[in-house]
Amino acid sequence: MRQQIAAANWKMNLTYQQGEQLLDGILNANIQLAAHQSAVFAVPFPYLVMATQKLSGRNNYFASAQNCSDQKSGAYTGEVAAEMLKSINIRYCVLGHSERREYFFEGNQSLAKKVELCLANDITPIFCCGETLSIREVGAQEGFVETQLMESLFHFTEEDVRKVVIAYEPIWAIGTGKTASVEQAQEMHAHIRGLFAKKYNQATAQHIPILYGGSVKAANAGELFHSPDVDGGLVGGASLNATEFTSIIRALK
Ligand code: PGA
Repeated sequence: MRQQIAAANWKMNLTYQQGEQLLDGILNANIQLAAHQSAVFAVPFPYLVMATQKLSGRNNYFASAQNCSDQKSGAYTGEVAAEMLKSINIRYCVLGHSERREYFFEGNQSLAKKVELCLANDITPIFCCGETLSIREVGAQEGFVETQLMESLFHFTEEDVRKVVIAYEPIWAIGTGKTASVEQAQEMHAHIRGLFAKKYNQATAQHIPILYGGSVKAANAGELFHSPDVDGGLVGGASLNATEFTSIIRALK
């Protein structure tokens, strides 16, 4: 079975101590993950080492960064390089979250460089894509997401692209309490998988996990994750609550 992933995106929330408590609460639930399942925690940079230490010794629990620089190293004050993440054993990095695209003007070309640097450092990019409400209202979402993938990912070799995780996050569903319907999610996930099949091949398309993000919570994770092309979720708000997030982990296929 394809890799199934419950990914927490803490964004810029929680103090260090609150973060420790939250991880303890989730780990206390002692959920044993199958070989094809992972729980990933995208925590703020200053908490990465703490999170890695807490998660070590647990099978398939990983800490993740929420971003990295599009430059290798050098005079870029305030930036964090993929190589630095690798040096503290980070294996995942969220890239191109819609908040970074909107507030920090990240574009598809810069994201292509970030993906490349992550792959060069054995870090799995969790590459976010998704449309705004106005794009969906005119029915242009499929073409919009295709351009995001084309400009950031489709120049990679088959071998490299297989190392990427996709997170489809319709922007109108993020933090709004408005979830895409199971049908809307499945339809877009199938479309995305189809794009990989067209650009690469069916085997590659079938290999790549596609997570859904946007108001995932314990109450809807089960039905969303049940869709054939939904391979888990990237979860913001509900990942800040131990009971909610443990239920979401349990909802993985
Ligand atoms: P949300 O955020 O679950 O709070 O909607 C999801 C995300 O932005 O990754």
